[in-house]
Amino acid sequence: MPKTCPFSSNNNSEVRYNNYLQLDKILTAQRPLSNLDGEYLFILVHQVKELWMDFINKEIFFIKRELDISTSSIKGICERISRITLIFNQLISAWDVLNTLDLAQYKSFRDNLGNASGIQSLNFRLFEFLLGNRDKEDLKYSNDIELEKLEEEATKPSVYDEIIQKLLSPIFSIDSEVIDRDYCKKHNKNLSVSNAWKSIFENKDKYGDLFLLGKSLILLEEKIIMWKSKHIEIAKKYIEKQKGTGETEGVEYLKQKRGYSFFPELMKLKAFI
Ligand code: HEM
Repeated sequence: MPKTCPFSSNNNSEVRYNNYLQLDKILTAQRPLSNLDGEYLFILVHQVKELWMDFINKEIFFIKRELDISTSSIKGICERISRITLIFNQLISAWDVLNTLDLAQYKSFRDNLGNASGIQSLNFRLFEFLLGNRDKEDLKYSNDIELEKLEEEATKPSVYDEIIQKLLSPIFSIDSEVIDRDYCKKHNKNLSVSNAWKSIFENKDKYGDLFLLGKSLILLEEKIIMWKSKHIEIAKKYIEKQKGTGETEGVEYLKQKRGYSFFPELMKLKAFI
């Protein structure tokens, strides 16, 4: 162990739990503007989600790098996707904790949020961009640094694009308009991609790994929809028909966002898994 170990508070190089986990930073990063427990909880739920989202994005970057190499391991990719799906279970159950606040408790600190809104979350937007949900409209909530990052990502293929290009197109006939598409736009459902997945799902023995990959993507999208649905329920409870703090139409905006499908061809094949 080097003497300069960053986790050690003294020179005897002992790694201590508090230092290793940087607890002094994490446990002092909750700064409610009121002394109300509800606001503390509200901040905490968001922070935990940011930590998980940051990790999820790192996992997606790993998957993209794996897809870039010719010897990519489909099994390894499936494992990472399944891990992300499991993290979504945590994010989904966090809504139940937040839901323990009653309306009056939420209202008591809502004004403290000003125009701060989850819509400004870079991690969340990056997550959606990496999976392929790219809407120019979403960029208007970003600052210059965030914008640069998101615009750069928008010029690159999404994870789903890469799966189609690198894993499906060498085996199945995929339309050139899908392969050469403009990555800044959303991926639209395509018949050649649907047919490829259908062949895979109907011939599980022949395409075992690809079947597992398709299945893991379906399970992930289902969890994302569940997370979004719980968010809508929460928003209905606390703000009803009011606008969001980010100035959108509130619940209607969230419903419209939930309507987007990342893997539209696969979601039609749910009955096969
Ligand atoms: C009382 C609780 C909450 C309410 C009423 C609420 C409401 C809303 C509304 C209305 C929007 C649309 C944008 C806007 O106009 O502000 C939004 C966006 C968003 N919120 Fe919440 N929210 C709540 C809690 C949370 C929590 C706890 C999280 C994270 C764990 C979160 C994450 C997000 C994200 C990521 C977006 C962007 C969604 C997208 O663009 O698709 N929200 N929220």
